[in-house]
Amino acid sequence: MKTEILSMLRSTSDYVSGQSICKKFGVSRTAVWKIINQLKEEGYEIEAVQKKGYRLLEIGEVISESELKSRMKTKWLAREIYYYDEIDSTNTRAKQHAEEGCPQGALVVSNMQKAGKGSRGRGWQSPSGAAVYMSLVLRPKFLPNKASMVTLIMALAVAKAIEETTELSCQIKWPNDVIINKRKVCGILTEMSGEQDYIQYIVIGVGINVKEQTFPDDIRQKATSLEEEVREINRKEVPKRAYLIERTMYYFEEYYELFEEKESLAFLKEEYNQYLVNKEKEVKVLGTSYGYTGICHGINENGELLVETEKNTLEKVCSGEVSVRGIYGYV
Ligand code: BTN
Repeated sequence: MKTEILSMLRSTSDYVSGQSICKKFGVSRTAVWKIINQLKEEGYEIEAVQKKGYRLLEIGEVISESELKSRMKTKWLAREIYYYDEIDSTNTRAKQHAEEGCPQGALVVSNMQKAGKGSRGRGWQSPSGAAVYMSLVLRPKFLPNKASMVTLIMALAVAKAIEETTELSCQIKWPNDVIINKRKVCGILTEMSGEQDYIQYIVIGVGINVKEQTFPDDIRQKATSLEEEVREINRKEVPKRAYLIERTMYYFEEYYELFEEKESLAFLKEEYNQYLVNKEKEVKVLGTSYGYTGICHGINENGELLVETEKNTLEKVCSGEVSVRGIYGYV
C-alpha cells in the first residue's frame, strides 16, 4: 500500500486528500497517517495541510524499493525489485536470486557496492549514493550464442534514458560502454549461467556514474559523470537515480520484447549504429594474440562489429573476444 500511496502522491503536484486515500484502500485515517510517517522517515518531504490533504515535495533524493516500484511504467520488467542500502555486488546478488528462482525481469538495486565488479576481472568503484548500481535477471529461451546481444540492447536503453532525463547527447562504444563527450559514463557487465545449448539465466549489471567527483587514477582520463557533463551544458541538476532506472527499464523492455520475438538485432541495427562512437572511423581490434586496424562500419543483425581491414576484408568482430578502441586511445 505504501508504494501505491506514493504513486498517488507523485501523480499530481496538488494535494491528495486523506479521505480519498482511505476510500481507495479501504483503510482508516490513522493507517494512512502511519504510512505517511513511514514515507517521511524514508526521506520524503510530505506537506500535510488540514482540509486539503498531503502533498509530495520533490526535494532531495530517495532511493528505495517503494520509490522504484512506484515509478515503474513497465509491463513485466523490474516489477520484482530487491533494494539494498549496501551490498557486495548487485551482479553477485542477482545471480543468487536467480539461483533461488526469482522471476525473469527481477531487478537488484543498491545504493553502494563494497565489491563492485567491472569487465575483464577488474573492480568497479561504487561509492555510496554516487551512481546507479543495478542488475537485471533474464531467463530467455534463445540460445546462449545470442546472449551477448542483450548487452547492446541495454547500452541503447541507458543511452536513451540519459538523453531523455538530461538533454545530454550519448554515444555507445561497442559493446558495453555508454559515452558522453568521449568519456565513459556507464559500464555494463553481462554474466550468464547455463549449458552449451540452454540459458539458465542472464544477469545484466549496469553502473551509471551520476554524481562521482573523483575516479581512480587509471580511469580518470576516460571516465565522466552526469554531474560533470550537465555542468558543461549549464544545467543545475542531475536526474534522480530512480528516474534514470525507471526510464532505462522502460526502453529495455520495449527493445527486449522485440528481440525475444525476432532473435535478431535487425530491427534495432540502424538506431544502434547512429549512437556508435567509432562508426566510419579507424579502430584498433585487439585480440589476445592478434591485433589489426580497420574502418568500423557498425553492427550487423547479430550484434557483431563490422570492421573493414587494410586488406579490404570485412571482419565480423564478436564481443567478449576482443577489445576495440579508437586508434588514438579509448575512443
Ligand atoms: C565495465 O567494466 O565497464 C562494467 C562495469 C559494470 C558495473 C556494474 S555496477 C552494477 C553491477 N554490479 C557489479 O558488480 N557490476 C555491475
